[in-house]
Amino acid sequence: MDLVKEIKRLKEEKNAVILAHYYQVPEIQDIADYVGDSLQLSQKAAETDADIIVFAGVHFMAETAKILNPTKTVVLPDLKAGCSLADSCPPEAFEKFTKAHPDHVVITYVNCSAEIKALSDIVCTSSNALKIVNSVPKDTPIIFAPDKNLGKYIISQTGRDMLLWDGSCIVHEAFSIDKLIALHKKYPDHKIIAHPESETHILDTAAYIGSTSGMINFVKEHPQEKFIVATEAGILHKMQQEMPNTELVPAPAKEDNTCACSECHFMKMNTLQKLYDCLLNESPQIEVPEHIRKRALLPIERMLELSK
Ligand code: 13P
Ligand code: SF4
Repeated sequence: MDLVKEIKRLKEEKNAVILAHYYQVPEIQDIADYVGDSLQLSQKAAETDADIIVFAGVHFMAETAKILNPTKTVVLPDLKAGCSLADSCPPEAFEKFTKAHPDHVVITYVNCSAEIKALSDIVCTSSNALKIVNSVPKDTPIIFAPDKNLGKYIISQTGRDMLLWDGSCIVHEAFSIDKLIALHKKYPDHKIIAHPESETHILDTAAYIGSTSGMINFVKEHPQEKFIVATEAGILHKMQQEMPNTELVPAPAKEDNTCACSECHFMKMNTLQKLYDCLLNESPQIEVPEHIRKRALLPIERMLELSK
């Protein structure tokens, strides 16, 4: 069976839209109606008139799409496609934490569960985090969760007083500073660009720090440069498509397994076959209990409003 042809046929037949994150395998990115970062994908999910949203990403992304579209069918090719950051913030412990600091505004990175969003005042992504934090009055203390690395980066840029949750992304913490320095010695003319989920010592080496779409735009804006790219390696597919003549090298991970780069095994759980199956069977579907959905919607809508 020609999976690509069948997915396209089913998509038309069922009025479905395929949204894919930059960390998805190349064949999924290539068949998607839209490939983007977390903010762009939630914006697309908010405005789509499709009946079915196939979310080629991880669970919290599909859940955000469902929160925005309770009457639509939202499917995720593999329900086990989770996220270490989302897992690092259990709702009960987080609720206790927020209750211990009732004067703090609660800002949560979108990489968290619906339950955590329901406990938040406003959500952010890596592309709008600085703007969202700066929208809070200067004298108001902030709780920022769950990513401590992004939190530290925001503090360094804004000087804000923020209490950080102790969560992190296994993919961005896998980068080896020693190997990165050695690689940069081998490629001294390459500029290092990094995602803010990376640790401070990695960010300190970077000529540019930003979201996945920010990194792609930076590469496009500097056609004469070469780059070492410190984020999940799936991004290289779109980056190289956009800039076929630019030299791109993935930043090295502490332990080399399948490749010398860092890959998100959650993102890579989705395959073309699973995407076809979930579109055909309209399963597995994402469901969010209505009382949680209603509370989680508000902080997401605040973010979308501030990101216009
Ligand atoms: P962005 O694409 O929003 O930069 O997020 C990266 C990420 O880790 C998604 O899980
Ligand atoms: Fe979560 Fe990190 Fe994978 Fe993104 S790359 S989905 S933050 S584990």
